[in-house]
Amino acid sequence: MRTQVGIIGAGPAGLMLSHLLHRQGIESVVLEAHTRQYVEQRVRAGVLEQNTTELLIETGVGARLQKEGLVHRGIELSFAGERHRIDFQDLIGRSITVYGQQEVIKDLIAARVTAGGQIYFEARGISLEGLDGPTPAIRFEADGERRELHCDFIAGCDGSHGISRASIPEGALQTFERIYPFAWLGILAEAPPASEEIIYTYHERGFALFSMRSPQITRLYLQCAPDEDIALWPDERIWQELHTRMGTRDGWRPSEGPILQKGVTGVRSLVTEPMQYGRLFLAGDSAHIVPPTGAKGMNLAIADVRVLAKGLAAFYASGSRKLLDEYSTTCLSRVWKVQRFSWWMTSMLHRCDTGDGFDHRRQLAELDYVTSSRAAAASLAENYVGLPMEGTTPRANTCEIVR
Ligand code: FAD
Ligand code: DHB
Repeated sequence: MRTQVGIIGAGPAGLMLSHLLHRQGIESVVLEAHTRQYVEQRVRAGVLEQNTTELLIETGVGARLQKEGLVHRGIELSFAGERHRIDFQDLIGRSITVYGQQEVIKDLIAARVTAGGQIYFEARGISLEGLDGPTPAIRFEADGERRELHCDFIAGCDGSHGISRASIPEGALQTFERIYPFAWLGILAEAPPASEEIIYTYHERGFALFSMRSPQITRLYLQCAPDEDIALWPDERIWQELHTRMGTRDGWRPSEGPILQKGVTGVRSLVTEPMQYGRLFLAGDSAHIVPPTGAKGMNLAIADVRVLAKGLAAFYASGSRKLLDEYSTTCLSRVWKVQRFSWWMTSMLHRCDTGDGFDHRRQLAELDYVTSSRAAAASLAENYVGLPMEGTTPRANTCEIVR
């Protein structure tokens, strides 16, 4: 088999790349380890930066997003029993959209299938060959047959546990990592959201996050131990802890409902440099992981493949490798800014007890500052809604406010 770009992984990065390449007349084949049903049901991210929303709409996969996505013009930060609003629209004239990652996945798969795109689900035993030569290949097994896919380029979009990064010879990459001493326990509940906006809570007992998926479904998270045993968290204990951490003096608390799904997610920062080896390009979680507190993982994955698609389009149009050679540098400049923002949000909002109360007081001061200074709030807002994409002008930005 032959294609122009072989893509490993049908997550947001792999599917969006395949979609963007198709729009440029470039052929690709996507290989995914799981079933279509599995990837379409996997509950993960929920916040789309304005950049991501605009890209989905501009490239013709935003119809359902425009109908069902919930546009949020701000978020709330809650601490010391009170909630404080960060008004994105007022501060920087931009907004975010709450729309489940699995809905983005469904829309992208539908678009690829309708366009005749090739996606092999349940592809097994994938191995990469000839990455440093001109004709790399992917060996895999699908529908009970061994196959070999010859490509011009390979995109490793197979997430944090994939084989792409692991196929690069040791010594060719550098990794930078930070492990945090906590994780998130997340639930999806059948309960109408008690607030219209996302609420990030700092509490002495730990961080808590209120979000949603639809007018009927609430999404909630609690800071927990990295090795937390979910079996020790019956539904009543989860609700009790959520009420203790999130309840504010005005009587607000999340509304309860049957818990549909529960899980523990690690909190980690990781960056791989460079994001390329020969003809293999890493994109999304296969190249970097951000702690979820900034709601950035999916958005960063989409930002990477936007740069990659542009580089590949230039290569096929003119033979120029310039943009492809700059791929890693271009992406890493954004990746590190997003990494910094996600680290900062994480450090401000999680309980990380050193025993002497210093961090607790420092965090309260930080929250007080960010909710009382327009400049600090604008900085949070511009990062949260998404920094401008390379070569694009945002509709409004903080420079206008500062002026
Ligand atoms: P993935 O989505 O991980 O996709 C990789 C794909 O590759 C998967 O389908 C996998 O099955 C497949 N694969 C893996 N190994 C192989 C192999 N060997 N062969 C073939 N296929 C393989 N991000 C946000 O932007 N906003 C949020 O609000 C947010 N909240 C989150 C909440 C939770 C609980 C979690 C877990 C994550 C959250 N994230 C969030 C992060 C976001 O989900 C990820 O960053 C995003 O999925 C990355 O996309 P990706 O395409 O790079 O990787
Ligand atoms: C959600 C997840 C996040 O990581 C975040 O920071 C905000 C919202 C969510 O799942 O809705």
